[in-house]
Amino acid sequence: MSQLGTCKTSHQRLIAWVDEIAQLCQPSGVHWCDGSQEEYDALCELMVKAGTFTKLDDAKRPGSYLARSHPSDVARVEDRTFICSKTKEEAGPTNNWADPAEMHATLKDLYKGCMAGRTLYVIPFAMGPLESPLCKVGIEITDSPYVVANMRIMTRMGQAVIEKLGTDGAFIPCVHSVGAPLQPGQADVPWPCEPEPKNKYIVHFPEEPSIWSYGSGYGGNALLGKKCLALRIASTVAKREGWLAEHMLILALTSPENKTYYIAAAFPSACGKTNLAMMRPTLPGWTVRCLGDDIAWIRIAEDGRLYAMNPETGFFGVAPGTSEQSNPNAMASVRANTIFTNVVLTPDGDIWWEDMGVPAPASGIDWQGNEWTPDCGRKGAHPNARFTAPAAQCPVIDPLWESPEGVPLSAILFGGRRQTTIPLVNEAFDWEHGVFMGSSAGSETTAAALGKAGVLRRDPFAMLPFLGYSVVEYLKHWLALPEKTDRSKLPKVFFVNWFRKSDDGKWLWPGYGDNSRVLKWICERVEGSGKAVESPIGFLPAPDGLDLGGLDLPQGNLDQLLSVDIEGWKKEVHDIVTYYEKLGDLPASLKAKLADLEDRLAKAS
Ligand code: OXD
Ligand code: MN
Repeated sequence: MSQLGTCKTSHQRLIAWVDEIAQLCQPSGVHWCDGSQEEYDALCELMVKAGTFTKLDDAKRPGSYLARSHPSDVARVEDRTFICSKTKEEAGPTNNWADPAEMHATLKDLYKGCMAGRTLYVIPFAMGPLESPLCKVGIEITDSPYVVANMRIMTRMGQAVIEKLGTDGAFIPCVHSVGAPLQPGQADVPWPCEPEPKNKYIVHFPEEPSIWSYGSGYGGNALLGKKCLALRIASTVAKREGWLAEHMLILALTSPENKTYYIAAAFPSACGKTNLAMMRPTLPGWTVRCLGDDIAWIRIAEDGRLYAMNPETGFFGVAPGTSEQSNPNAMASVRANTIFTNVVLTPDGDIWWEDMGVPAPASGIDWQGNEWTPDCGRKGAHPNARFTAPAAQCPVIDPLWESPEGVPLSAILFGGRRQTTIPLVNEAFDWEHGVFMGSSAGSETTAAALGKAGVLRRDPFAMLPFLGYSVVEYLKHWLALPEKTDRSKLPKVFFVNWFRKSDDGKWLWPGYGDNSRVLKWICERVEGSGKAVESPIGFLPAPDGLDLGGLDLPQGNLDQLLSVDIEGWKKEVHDIVTYYEKLGDLPASLKAKLADLEDRLAKAS
C-alpha cells in the first residue's frame, strides 16, 4: 500500500501540468493512479465507507458494487456540452459553440478551489491497444473515485500508459471535477455533484486538444475517455489524419461454412448496440462474436480496406431491458467485477432492473435509495441505469478484439428506433447513397440524454451528440473515402430498423437473436448472392430473400417490414429536406441523392 498513489513519471510537462491543475483546484491531496487491482480494491473500499458504493453479495455478484447517483445527475447533458473551436463555423450547425478564450476564463473561475477537501486523482489512460497505430493517450484528472474505478474498467489505465509516454510523449489533458468542494469539517455526500444544470460544463477545445468537465459524475459526462476523447476530440484528429472515429459497435459474424464477416453498426444511444454486438443468433450454424459495443476507430489499411478497432476495454451498457432473452451474453458479462449504477438493490444483496426477465423482488431499495415494491407505482431502476463491465468477461468476446490493427469491415449498418416507415433492412445503391442514409438517420429519443424521450430526431451517423467539428465537413470526409481507396474495397452500407410497429402498436419483428436473419442476408449481399429487389429507397430483400426458417412470422408482418410505404417516405423526404436546410451548405452529391430519392418516389406513386 505504501507505494500507492505516488508519482512514477519523469515526464516534466505532465508533472508541471498536474501541479498547475492542483494549484487551481486546491485538493487536499494528489493520487497518481497505477491501475493495479490493489488500488482498485482500496478505492472501492473507500467508496463503501463513504456510502457511494454498496458492496453486492460476493456469492451472488462477486467483486461487484452498486452506486446511486444524485437525481439531477443521471444522463449526458447535451445542452451543457460545448465545442470551443476557434470559430463557430468549425463547430458547425449542430454543436453548442463557445468562444475558447471566454470559456477558458469561465472555467478558470469555476475550477478555483473546486476540489477542496477532496483527493485529486491522476488517471493515465490509453484509448486503443498501446501498440495500435491509432492509440491515443489521455490523462484524466478527477476528484471522483467513482470515475477512477469506472475508467479502470473502460480503458487501458495506469502505469503501463505512463511508461508508454516516457519523458516526452503526447497526451490529451482531461480535467474533471464533480464541482462540490467541501468546507473544512463539512460532511460529504454519497454522490457529490453540482445539482444546478446551468453550472454543469462538458467542454472540448479541439485545437489544443483538451477536455474540461465540471459538475457531473455520470457516464459520458465524467468518464472522459469515452464520448469526449474517443468521439468528440478523436473525430477532429481523425478528420485531420484521414481516419474515422465513430459511434459504432463492431461484431464478427461467422457462417456455417466458417467464413467470418466483420460488421460495424451506428445506432443512437440506447437503441440496442450492445444487444446486437453480442447477439446469440437463432439461425443454426451462425455465430456472433463481439469486438466492441459503442465506439469504432476506423482507418484505411495497406490493403485498401477499412479496418475497425474498439478503443475501449469495457461496456457501459444500459441496464433496463437487458435480460437473458434480449442479451444473454451481456448478462454473463455482468456476473462479476461489475459496477452497477442506479439499479434496484435486492434484499439478498444483488441487483434488479425493469425487464431483466426475472421476477422483481418482493421489495428492495430503488435507484434513489428509497424502499421500493413492484406495485409502488415507481420504476425501481432509472431508465438510464448502467452497468460497467470488463469486455474481457463477455463469453463471446472475439479473439481479435485487442488486435492493434483492427479487423477489415465487410458492411456498415446505420439504424435507429423508427416505429413507422423505415423497412427492416435496406441496402444502399452505392457509397454516396450510403452516406446519404447515414446523414439522414433519425431515431426516437431515449433516456440516455436528458430531455424528452420518444421524439423523432435526426441523428446523422448517430454522431449528433458526439461530433467535435462541423457535420458538413464530417459528411465531406465520409464522401471523400472513395478518393482515398479503391471503391470496390469499401464496405457495403445498409440501413436497419428492428423497431417497426403495427398500427395497433405491436412489434412487427422479434428482434434480438432473430436479427441474425438480417445479418445473414447482409453477408449474402456482400458475397453477391443475396436475393434482392430494387426499390425507390434502395435494395430490399426479395420476398424469399430472408432466411425465416423456424420463425413463425405472420405474412402481413413481413409484407410491412419489407415494403416501401410511399406516402410515409414522401413525408420522410420532406422532413429530411427541412433538416438539410438547417444544416446549411451540404455537399452537392448528398443533395443529389435526396433529389434522386424524391424523383423515384414521385415516379412510384
Ligand atoms: C453511451 C451513450 O453511453 O451513447 O454509450 O449515451
Ligand atoms: Mn454510445
